[in-house]
Amino acid sequence: MLTIALSKGRIYQETLPLLADAGIVPLEDPDKSRKLILATNQPGVQLLVVRATDVPTYVEYGAADLGVAGRDVLIEYGAEGFYEPLDLNIACCRMMTAGKVGVAFPARRLRVATKYVAIAQRYFADLGVQAEIIKLYGSMELAPLVGLADCIVDLVDTGNTLRANGLEPRDLIMPISSRLIVNKAAMKMKHAAVKALVGQLAAAVASRSPAEYP
Ligand code: ATP
Ligand code: PRP
Repeated sequence: MLTIALSKGRIYQETLPLLADAGIVPLEDPDKSRKLILATNQPGVQLLVVRATDVPTYVEYGAADLGVAGRDVLIEYGAEGFYEPLDLNIACCRMMTAGKVGVAFPARRLRVATKYVAIAQRYFADLGVQAEIIKLYGSMELAPLVGLADCIVDLVDTGNTLRANGLEPRDLIMPISSRLIVNKAAMKMKHAAVKALVGQLAAAVASRSPAEYP
């Protein structure tokens, strides 16, 4: 049995056509079913529906053989506990700094609100900028508006969320896309099945047009 961990929402929606190209079709839609283990048309393949940030945990501990997670999530998770054989070129966006429109960042120590603490810390340290990182769990755009922070570090796609809140994108930290990750033991113990699936997914990715980062 091959077990693949996926999160609901955009990763599930964007992974589905790639899995279909590899001959794997879930028997239920996670947006309609409350089930967290989804059978597929292939008796030897099942899907686990987990939170996006939990995908690396399931794969590192071997509860899932494979998983799909954003580069943002993988870097924040920070483990060397799995292989990352394939960029799926889905859920593409940019990790950026953003601040209030027309308001320059202050010269003093910068206050930065983000849920991406590790990425923000490394980014400002590499720049040699003194920054106090304030961990939030969502709605980061609010922080500069109410004086909690001078800027945020967040994902930007269309820029609509920033615009709607009077913010503007500033500097690119890194492009983001979702990656296939593989449990280290599964790569050895289920080598043939894992290798075949990675190959089929790689072919499906290659047949699509290259990712366009916004
Ligand atoms: P959780 O369910 O744990 O809150 P989440 O809300 O971050 O997770 P999604 O919004 O589905 O889950 O995001 C999953 C992944 O998709 C992110 O880790 C990121 O790599 C990518 N992503 C997030 N926002 C966007 C976006 N606006 N455009 C494109 N890709 C995005
Ligand atoms: C993501 C991200 C930004 C938004 C950026 O949120 O956290 O808020 O997308 O996309 P945009 O530039 O196209 O507006 P998401 O839609 O995943 O909502 P959530 O993180 O609050 O679940």
